[in-house]
Amino acid sequence: MKWSVCSCFGSCLFFILRLPVSTGKLDLSSWVIGSPQPIVALAGDDVILPCHLEPAISDFSDTVEWTREDLDPPYLHVHQSGRLLVQLQNPLYKYRTILFVDELKNGNVSLKLFTVTISDEGRYLCFIPSMRRGDFIQLNVGESVILNMTPITLISSSGVVLECESKGWYPEPELFWLDAEGKLLSAGAPETVRGPDGLYTVSSRVTVEKSHSNSFTCRVQQLSINQSRDTHIHVISSWTHLQLILIVLLLISSLALLFSSFCVFVLPFVFTNGNQKNLVSNNLFFLHFW
Ligand SMILES: *[C@@H]1O[C@H](CO)[C@@H](O)[C@H](O)[C@H]1NC(C)=O
Ligand SMILES: *[C@@H]1O[C@H](CO)[C@@H](O)[C@H](O)[C@H]1NC(C)=O
Repeated sequence: MKWSVCSCFGSCLFFILRLPVSTGKLDLSSWVIGSPQPIVALAGDDVILPCHLEPAISDFSDTVEWTREDLDPPYLHVHQSGRLLVQLQNPLYKYRTILFVDELKNGNVSLKLFTVTISDEGRYLCFIPSMRRGDFIQLNVGESVILNMTPITLISSSGVVLECESKGWYPEPELFWLDAEGKLLSAGAPETVRGPDGLYTVSSRVTVEKSHSNSFTCRVQQLSINQSRDTHIHVISSWTHLQLILIVLLLISSLALLFSSFCVFVLPFVFTNGNQKNLVSNNLFFLHFW
């Protein structure tokens, strides 16, 4: 009797010790790994927030919690006993999250989030309560709905003023100017305006010399969402315009000269009858018209 109580006590003790040991085994052998780099998405995209156990685990079936610290309630997906706990889920994420059921048992607890919006941007936590381990995943959401660029060229006495504007950015982008060789041009800080839709419009002006290099690039980029847009501006310098106009004028006047000399000097010798006078006066009228 004494012995069996003792053995019962022993096995109970063993069982009690075994519980934390079995989870402790996970604790010691596996880490929860998110993503060291931010995950980047554009509004409207579906995105995977990666998270997995490393080393991989077979027959993983523990509870998985996905939370965002600035949400109330913070849960966007809690997976327990093989299903989503709907009652805990923040309404903003209703019907928008899934875990990969086939991958889950190997310890891949990545979350797929459908049709992200700018308000989904934030720091997510992937957490395994049984292991008391988790990792953060930063999601950056950008917007590029109406990306457009309008180059404007003005000619002033000091040089050529180039202006470039780009709309529909989130987050706030950078803007810079490059010359034909790809060298950075010094320009003032771009002007940034945030519209009621939360999107940014940037614009910038730069004055360039009237020189031989007359090809310029306005680049607007937001590296956190891996978006970059270029617009090329080709300046036809005023000197080239002038040259063109001079050449055309020269051509016209020489043609006119040729034609009038033909009329005045050649025609009178062709028509040698009494109509000669009339013809000449007609031609003179024509010349006046010219
Ligand atoms: C986890 O599953 C997702 C979806 O199938 C996949 O894209 C991702 O690469 C997997 N991660 C790992 C570490 O296997
Ligand atoms: C960024 O976009 C370019 C093409 O637009 C692509 O080749 C590159 O792989 C992207 N980089 C990342 C980190 O997504």
